[in-house]
Amino acid sequence: MMKQLIDKLAEENRLTREEYIDLIENRNPETCEYLFDKARKVREKHYGREVYLRGLIEFTNYCKNDCYYCGIRRSNPNVTRYRLTKEEILDCCNEGYLLGFRTFVLQGGEDSHYNDTDIVDIIRDIKRLYPDCALTLSIGEHSLESYQAFYEAGADRYLLRHETADSNHYKTLHPPNLSPEFRKQCLQELKEIGYQVGSGFMVGSPGQTIENLADDLLYLQELQPHMVGIGPFIPHHDTPFAGESSGTTELTLFLLGLIRLMLPAVLLPATTALGTIDPMGREKGILAGANVLMPNLSPIKVRNKYMLYDNKICTGDEAAECRNCLEGRMKLIGYNPVVDRGDSKMIQEGKNNV
Ligand code: 5AD
Ligand code: FES
Repeated sequence: MMKQLIDKLAEENRLTREEYIDLIENRNPETCEYLFDKARKVREKHYGREVYLRGLIEFTNYCKNDCYYCGIRRSNPNVTRYRLTKEEILDCCNEGYLLGFRTFVLQGGEDSHYNDTDIVDIIRDIKRLYPDCALTLSIGEHSLESYQAFYEAGADRYLLRHETADSNHYKTLHPPNLSPEFRKQCLQELKEIGYQVGSGFMVGSPGQTIENLADDLLYLQELQPHMVGIGPFIPHHDTPFAGESSGTTELTLFLLGLIRLMLPAVLLPATTALGTIDPMGREKGILAGANVLMPNLSPIKVRNKYMLYDNKICTGDEAAECRNCLEGRMKLIGYNPVVDRGDSKMIQEGKNNV
């Protein structure tokens, strides 16, 4: 029964809300294995056993937002705040380039210290110095005009997780000044501008139901993003959700598998959060259909200050080793990190339809 639904998803790339609920609710170790096997085949058809790497540069941990789940939320007074200068950001890119990264992801809190001109200036410099690299922004909600300006300056991709597709659930994760409608509008605008767009959500966030997850999948089915970032929710001790429990590896992997079948050529990271709740989480994520890793490229001195959740991995002194560590970890499971921009095959196959 469940296998038939998985077959249907693999063939038609879509299911109904009831079918997603049914699949998630009734999953068991056997259906999981069946799903992962199919997901790996689809992944290999489009991407072989290559793993795309993104160098993540966490350039500011100032944030004007106050999301209840996030460790760098505005009202956490125990964060040592930092901003990287443009020169420090370019140093990260230089180091990353030498390590073989051909995508840089600029991620930060929503920090009004940087106006559009500052961001445009950083984008232009990175693209001038590294014209063969893709540049991804992950800097939150902005106006259409700002998104347009960043795109014209050379940004190729934009990550903005929708966090949850259910408005009521959204309101329990965010303060009233953040709206689920505006979040979705931003994603639509980013797509229309021409960015390769990534959305996604946390698995096991407080109050999340199976129905919410089905709605998240339906939302992705409708949005048709080029990238999907999902990882387990992990509590941070200085947030209102300090006492909540983490999402599980098991459910995160199941959803990765479903997303691979729904969006066959999607760029799907095995996230740091997954590696944090499970020492083999990233390997398991790749084996469930993921094809991207996003190791940290931020300078060692700031890595332990970008703590969205507790116990984040790769924040110690040994963090410069991530590149080699991941190479070794992937080789051990028969996968191969590559020096490549790692664009979505959706685009190369001419399916970049908005
Ligand atoms: N646990 C897991 N993921 C988190 N994020 C923020 N806080 C947490 C947390 N406590 C995720 C959000 C955000 C991304 C940058 O990190 O989904 O979009
Ligand atoms: Fe960072 Fe292994 S990936 S130390």
